[in-house]
Amino acid sequence: MSKNHEPVLTGEVVAHLILKQGGRYVDATLGLGGHSRALLDADPRGSLLGLDRHAASMEAARAALRPYGCRVTLQNLNFTDLSEAMAAAGWTAADGILADLGISRWQLEGAVPGLSFQRDEPLDMRLDGTGVTAAEIVNDWPVRELARVLKEYGEEPLALRIARRIGEVRGQAPIRTTHELADLVASVKHPRRGDSLHPATLTFMALRIAVNSELDRLERFLPLAAEVLAPGGRLAVISFHSLEDRMVKRAFQHLSGHCICPPDGLPCRCAPRHQLKVVTRKPVTPSEAEQRRNPLSRSAKLRAAEKLPA
Ligand SMILES: C[S@@+](CC[C@H](N)C(=O)[O-])C[C@H]1O[C@@H](n2cnc3c(N)ncnc32)[C@H](O)[C@@H]1O
Repeated sequence: MSKNHEPVLTGEVVAHLILKQGGRYVDATLGLGGHSRALLDADPRGSLLGLDRHAASMEAARAALRPYGCRVTLQNLNFTDLSEAMAAAGWTAADGILADLGISRWQLEGAVPGLSFQRDEPLDMRLDGTGVTAAEIVNDWPVRELARVLKEYGEEPLALRIARRIGEVRGQAPIRTTHELADLVASVKHPRRGDSLHPATLTFMALRIAVNSELDRLERFLPLAAEVLAPGGRLAVISFHSLEDRMVKRAFQHLSGHCICPPDGLPCRCAPRHQLKVVTRKPVTPSEAEQRRNPLSRSAKLRAAEKLPA
């Protein structure tokens, strides 16, 4: 399996994050280091702190970033540990922070077991080897809760039927592997001519999001990132999922002084903060040329915001 991941919107990331030379950048989702390399090349006096919760990705990035020597510090941490990571690096503030959400192609192609139904593997899906596995969710969670995960995180139209089928099958014997789960989903959701997605695609994505608490982590990360930016520093987030993009949009609204309470007529209780100014009125998306070159970039959306003076 080759270590392969083409970073998306690279020129746009550089244009939004590098406003001066000699900056300090955090790549909160290092992956194989593609965006980090672009940032370090664009600011040859800059330094970079890279985080990834997947240890093997961080080690692969370490090899790729070796030519940049002591300009680079890497830590195998979740981006919700941003403040601790910066303190350990001796940084009090950052001039640019990037989060390129989701997983890399290398992880999907086998570096993290269970993420894809293309290979028959144990249903694991954990990026950092901690917490609940996909097999535990599939075999132990109530059918109603499974249906919620598939519907909410996967936007799977047949969520309840798939969850009920899982409930029936696991009553006979536990569902242990990616192929067992993919076959079960395909038995409920028959592929139609012209379908470009495998019937189990949305189910697998939903389980990955649940296993790694991706939305919960993102919600905690965004205000932390705003907090540690230097005045004039920028935060850029690339999302691939409509729920993530909505969360980034709302967090940016909240951190730029807008109320995000539901319109229920009650007084505001979300306490908006005046920390950021949004610099992307609409999300930036890949050019047609990039989408043709790298079809995985098609759903990418970049939003950026700038820290206001103290
Ligand atoms: C889309 S890839 C990033 C690719 C990277 N920009 C590159 O150019 O190679 C996302 C990476 O973020 C990592 N990741 C996902 N959630 C994370 C989190 N909460 N904290 C730290 N790393 C995370 C994944 O392990 C994966 O390596």
